[in-house]
Amino acid sequence: MNSCGTCSALTDSYGRTVRSLRMSITNRCNFDCIYCHNEGDHGSKGEMSVENIANIVDAASRLGVNKLKISGGEPLIRNDLEDILSSLPELRDVSLTTNASMLKGRAQSLKDSGLDRVNVSLDTLDPEIYRTITNCSKGAFEKVLDGIHDAVDAGLTPVKLNMVLLKDINDADMDSMLEFTSQYKGDVILQLIELMDFKDVAQYRVNADEVEKKLLKNATDVKVRHMHHRKKYIINGAEVEFVRPVDNTEFCANCNRLRVTADGKLKPCLLTNDDLVDVSNASLDELPSLLQLAVSKRVPFYRNK
Ligand code: 5AD
Ligand code: SF4
Repeated sequence: MNSCGTCSALTDSYGRTVRSLRMSITNRCNFDCIYCHNEGDHGSKGEMSVENIANIVDAASRLGVNKLKISGGEPLIRNDLEDILSSLPELRDVSLTTNASMLKGRAQSLKDSGLDRVNVSLDTLDPEIYRTITNCSKGAFEKVLDGIHDAVDAGLTPVKLNMVLLKDINDADMDSMLEFTSQYKGDVILQLIELMDFKDVAQYRVNADEVEKKLLKNATDVKVRHMHHRKKYIINGAEVEFVRPVDNTEFCANCNRLRVTADGKLKPCLLTNDDLVDVSNASLDELPSLLQLAVSKRVPFYRNK
């Protein structure tokens, strides 16, 4: 274990301290997005109980974790999501990544149960293109827009829109997404995401440097975010971030998250399935050492050799 002044119990051998859990609570999803990486989890079967989830988060929070992102699959498929949220210890930030198709009418109860904010997958504002990307049923797109409005009304803000950039599919939609975002006057943030090639989708990769140049050209202000040294561009009053994980050693060097698969395995890195640590049946007493074991196995996927 590391023993430097700023290190905590969850610092790995590369000096990275885990402060954030990214937890999948189900692999089930009502969509089938062309690029979906399933949070790097393809084999898991079964789902953790509310108690199991609460114990993992509780143990992690005692070891310095102060952020939780709940993801899926589509986490709103679980009817006990509110119970999960209510069972959690006090954290600085609890967010949810969702496609928002089932969010309308539920945003307030999620907020009341302790959710702070949502990230919504929204790659386009064109219903046809939306269906091409997500393979969703008819009418789902309109429900997603209603879900976003509801989330803003309920104060699950800032709502971040995740837009995965896809060449020749939605790369012409950035301006309309920006306009949509600026309507919300700070309550909605646009997060552009570089495509990661999990499903043989390399043909849809955009030139990230060109995107960055375009953002820079249009921005009235640029701020640098501490985590990952990510830049925030202010364009027409809207905040835009560009997440570039691919081949990005800086991204990995600053990674402070540990993943948990839907069936209760600690996963040291999104991009590998090695070194999973099973905590599906772990007791509160066993969890701290299992969390430390998983953290000790963390290796930056992209690193300068
Ligand atoms: N590349 C980049 N981001 C992805 N996501 C899913 N698959 C990929 C991929 N291949 C992200 C999207 C989505 C969230 C659930 O995960 O941002 O909104
Ligand atoms: Fe994957 Fe999310 Fe799309 Fe479902 S909505 S297929 S989990 S990216």
